[in-house]
Amino acid sequence: MENTVVSSWNDFDPLKHAIVGRADFTCIPPAEPATEAKIPEDSDMRGMWGPRPQQTVERANVQLNTLAALLESRGVRVDRPQPLQWNQAVMTPDFSTGSSFGCMPPRDVLLTVGKEILSAPMSFRCRFWEYLAYHSLMQKYFDEDTEFRWEQAPRPRLADEAYKAGYFEEITIEERLERTANLDFVTTEHEPLFDAADVLRIGKDLFCQHGLTTNRRGMQWLQRHYPAHRVHTVNFPGDPYPIHIDATFVPLRPGLVMNNPNRKLPEKQRKIFEANDWEIIDAAQPAHDSPPPLCYSSVWLSMNVLILDHNTVIVEASEVNQIEQLDALGFNVLPVEFRDAYPFGGGLHCATGDVLREGNCEDYFPKQVPGTQI
Ligand code: ALA
Repeated sequence: MENTVVSSWNDFDPLKHAIVGRADFTCIPPAEPATEAKIPEDSDMRGMWGPRPQQTVERANVQLNTLAALLESRGVRVDRPQPLQWNQAVMTPDFSTGSSFGCMPPRDVLLTVGKEILSAPMSFRCRFWEYLAYHSLMQKYFDEDTEFRWEQAPRPRLADEAYKAGYFEEITIEERLERTANLDFVTTEHEPLFDAADVLRIGKDLFCQHGLTTNRRGMQWLQRHYPAHRVHTVNFPGDPYPIHIDATFVPLRPGLVMNNPNRKLPEKQRKIFEANDWEIIDAAQPAHDSPPPLCYSSVWLSMNVLILDHNTVIVEASEVNQIEQLDALGFNVLPVEFRDAYPFGGGLHCATGDVLREGNCEDYFPKQVPGTQI
């Protein structure tokens, strides 16, 4: 169609238009029930909060701008969010917290499914207003594309009932892993909660990670909201901090997905991939032993790659093992330096949001397996 501006059904068809985040004004938010659960005991971020040092913001923005320029040089239209003064306190009738977070990772909040972009509820209180950074872009798409669906999931209340009190006090990694395996997470089932980055789009099927940021009610809401789709729940027992699926389970092209070898998809949940001849391979080992300072994410941002089409992928330049693996799989790998941006909310996939990819809503899993759908 002539005026199609928004359309994307997966992470691998040819990318034509994307949003690339910005680091401006990003804060380390104060502790709150959900972030307590996410930040490791020994993290350098414990007890710290406030605006991130300006020099680190500038370094991150240089890398984000380089990514945007690379995309544009490949013919991808790029838009950028409008940062707010994230250091303002957040106050609602149900909670207050000292600051917001930022708008470096559009992937966390914006879920593009076909001609719709949905702002996720978000389960961190500090991320309550994050969707506002994308408001003027959504307005622009609304004006440019008469079929664009500008949507918002139910705004959560995020009152104390949304979280299990003291959930992660004095807990070992082994106990965290046990809880992940038992589907016992910091969020309760009080209201629907999900982050967009927990939702993996593969055409007609949406695979949602049940974890610290997405609950069952959130997945039920997604299933009712997308009645033509099949929403599956997946979980990854090897992940002590299960939040966002894109450093854990990453489709590379139709029929091929890479899985974090420390966070394997359980046997039962693999069946739908096996039944439809999808191959699940282990991702390469990260090149680094630790994430950069003041970073929420793990070293597995190595696999947080951005796919431009079935043969082309952008990978962080120092991730030599991941580059080698994708090269051996036949991809043309475009390296880009990005580790200075990691602390602001993740890797190359996190830092981008899909607006337009070629292709339609394919049924990649015609053979369904009972028991995986929500
Ligand atoms: N939660 C993901 C990781 O840090 C981004 O591995």
